Amino acid sequence: MSLSTAPKAKNPAELDWSNLGFTYMNLPYRYRAYWRDGEWRDTGLTEEATITINEGSTCLHYGQEVFEGLKAYRCKDGSINLFRPDQNAQRMQNSCERLMMPKVPTEMFINALKEVVKANEEYIPPYGTGATLYLRPYIVGVGGNIGVHPAEEYIFSIFAMPVGNYFKGGLTPTNFVASEYDRAAHKGTGASKVGGNYAASLFPGQLAHDAGFSDCIYLDPINHKKIEEVGSANFFGITKDGKFVTPKSPSILPSVTKFSLLYLAEHNFGMETEQGDIYIDQLDHFAEAGACGTAAVISPIGGFQYGDNFHVFYSKTEVGPVTRKLYDELIGIQFGDIEAPKNWIQKV
Ligand SMILES: Cc1ncc(COP(=O)(O)O)c(C=O)c1O
Repeated sequence: MSLSTAPKAKNPAELDWSNLGFTYMNLPYRYRAYWRDGEWRDTGLTEEATITINEGSTCLHYGQEVFEGLKAYRCKDGSINLFRPDQNAQRMQNSCERLMMPKVPTEMFINALKEVVKANEEYIPPYGTGATLYLRPYIVGVGGNIGVHPAEEYIFSIFAMPVGNYFKGGLTPTNFVASEYDRAAHKGTGASKVGGNYAASLFPGQLAHDAGFSDCIYLDPINHKKIEEVGSANFFGITKDGKFVTPKSPSILPSVTKFSLLYLAEHNFGMETEQGDIYIDQLDHFAEAGACGTAAVISPIGGFQYGDNFHVFYSKTEVGPVTRKLYDELIGIQFGDIEAPKNWIQKV
């Protein structure tokens, strides 16, 4: 018996670009590379969506897996943008270091992304639909290797799929709830993009969804007094005096979007910025709040439930003016309508 594999993606002409959601699609091509005897070999595109690995593989038993997420954007002139792929390459290298896995050099990473984007070009959503081509690079430890030690062989792959909004509301605020669970410990793997962090987040995420929230927000794992991050995005707040503040913690994922917003707030809008503590009993300092990430882009946070309190930041139904301004600037840069800071955009 074999378990189901996803059918081939529909013909691009049949896709409703404006209503895509965030769902796996089996596109024609993905990239593969195999690490054996100390080097990446057999690199290139394949049409095969499944991978066959040994039952003793470390990725199956010990979570020796890292991944990334970034997007390709179709511009008005038809060209294709990648947004800061070097930052994803670097973060994946950092994740590999933490899990004792071989790194993919930045140039190889970016060239592989470009190959996948070009090969699946007809699946890049048209400019103006707001949709993008999501790219999912990952590395897994493989081989007959049941002992708890790093694998000797690895597979690096990148697949793609067209996506719309990750949180259903788009720029409409949605509500979040503080989790009683922890996603990661301060000296654990929270700052690495590794599968285990997300396995640990499935149950708290489900509890949040069941209770009618978009997702949960994790608090600091030591005292549960400070905001850490959202299940799949970083948190930011705009103080009543106009400062952009985002949590600083060793257990949150260093978000490329968050660092980009910190830069834009400071350099393009002259705002004061701070990476610091956001205490859940001091939320009155904030006029607006949002979740930011590649998939989420910016998702305004309407209300935040913690214990018996329900705190509304700006409004339960309207996006705040600063959040909107940052969103417009960010997507303007990503889709090539606004000039990007140096080296942020790589043309495919
Ligand atoms: C836990 C977590 N935090 C934050 C982010 C945002 O990171 P980035 O902006 O690099 O996508 C992600 C991924 O999207 C994530 O999974």
